[in-house]
Amino acid sequence: MPKEEINNLALRRTLYFPSGEIYASAPSGFWEFGPIGEAIRRKIVAVWRKELVEREGMIEIGGSQILPEDVFKASGHLESFNDPIVQCKKCHSLFRADKLIAEKVDGIVPESLATTELDKLIDEHKVQCPKCRGKNFEEVRKFNMMMGLQIGATGDQPAYLRPETCQSIFCDFRRLYKSSRQELPLGIAQAGKSFRNEIAPRNTLLRQREFGQMEIEVFFNPDKINDVAHFEDVKDYKLNLMLLKTGKLGKVSCSDAAKKKIVSGKLVAYYLARVQQLYEKLGIPLEKMRFRELDNDERAFYAKETWDFEVETDLGWVELMACNHRTDYDLKGHAKQSKQDLSVTEEGKKFVPHIFELSAGIDRAFYVILDLSFRKEKRGKEERIYLKLPAAIAPYLSGVFPLVKKDGLLEKAEEIAQTLREHQFDVFFDEKGSIGKRYARVDEIGVPYAITVDYDTMKDSTVTLRERDSMDQKRIAIEKLPETLWLLSLEKKTFKEL
Ligand code: GAP
Repeated sequence: MPKEEINNLALRRTLYFPSGEIYASAPSGFWEFGPIGEAIRRKIVAVWRKELVEREGMIEIGGSQILPEDVFKASGHLESFNDPIVQCKKCHSLFRADKLIAEKVDGIVPESLATTELDKLIDEHKVQCPKCRGKNFEEVRKFNMMMGLQIGATGDQPAYLRPETCQSIFCDFRRLYKSSRQELPLGIAQAGKSFRNEIAPRNTLLRQREFGQMEIEVFFNPDKINDVAHFEDVKDYKLNLMLLKTGKLGKVSCSDAAKKKIVSGKLVAYYLARVQQLYEKLGIPLEKMRFRELDNDERAFYAKETWDFEVETDLGWVELMACNHRTDYDLKGHAKQSKQDLSVTEEGKKFVPHIFELSAGIDRAFYVILDLSFRKEKRGKEERIYLKLPAAIAPYLSGVFPLVKKDGLLEKAEEIAQTLREHQFDVFFDEKGSIGKRYARVDEIGVPYAITVDYDTMKDSTVTLRERDSMDQKRIAIEKLPETLWLLSLEKKTFKEL
């Protein structure tokens, strides 16, 4: 769906809006989430936690957002977390050099190209300034994207806002390994905010300066990369892989991906399968997904193998998750900088664990889900907008509406809403406006079911249950509501089967 439609909906229903918007001085790239947006965002994280973290027996931590400079010396971010930037000589606007060239040549330009190579490409392709059409640029230079701060009154303790949530997982590994099963593979997860001084934040939630990440770091013994407990469960499951060598998208079973060494081992194939399944649960159609294999010059400085999980949207393919084989790069770096031993001993052998990372953006997933679930339909003269969200990430499972406020209908509806809340269901209560308008209001934010209390309710203790997508309605006994909603929300029954 065009981004204007999505942003209109976001602003109309306060899903998200610019931070500090009452001040003209507010910098771009920072966004607030209103009650409905935050509810959807929270539920996306909850599905990730249930489907990956908990089902895979991983552990989850809550690390600090501010970490000392030493962490980023060890991680390589101080040295290498740079974007190439270029300034227009005429209007002085700054741009990401790789993106500027990519727009002109309509392809991918690796950000890791040497600055001199990027200068050459700007000349060769006669790139112009998108703002003033100027043709002359300063030389491309590297710009470190971390946001720094000084800690304490004397300000002599340099620190940084974390540019990725995973660094505290690496620093905490030894303690977490000792206090858990002391067995590899060990998956450690964290969801929270990360910060990057993006030169050109754009497309609202897709490129921000402060954004949500949900990351998983799987620590494993490199000699046992093919020793995966539940591989049988996914061996025939097909991955949508876009391979470097062919540039084409194809379906490859997990066992073929491992056997033919398309991926570096069964462990990688296994987690790629779990990622694909996770996003299916989040409502993204399989045919819109792909794992794109990255080339040497496209990968982050810490990765020896990367599969970007991408989804096709109205804005093109958007990367939602980076699946990185980080080897022992991180633990070795932190061991050297901190002078601590971060190796483990298993079966008499001492080694530094390797890491396979599943690094996902929360807000990017949120935006892409809005893009793919947005529906606009004409029914006669009426136009209807609804979000076809899976129940698991809808802001509320149901809306409860009294047809009118008099004759005891309001009180009855309040009683039903309260009972549903006691059964742990999210309920949106609305007694204002015509019933048609109330349906439209919940459709637009993706609430899958609406419950209407009318005069028949007072006679026979039944309500109307309406399904968002089909707009079909059924009469249901009040006492059956919790069980019915439970069956529908877990997809154990369809609305038709009720
Ligand atoms: N720890 C590895 C890492 O952070 P990344 O590819 O830089 O890898 C992972 O980021 C994910 O975080 C991306 O796939 C994307 O979903 C999200 N992300 C990265 N930069 C972002 C930004 N500026 N705004 C919104 N989301 C971003």
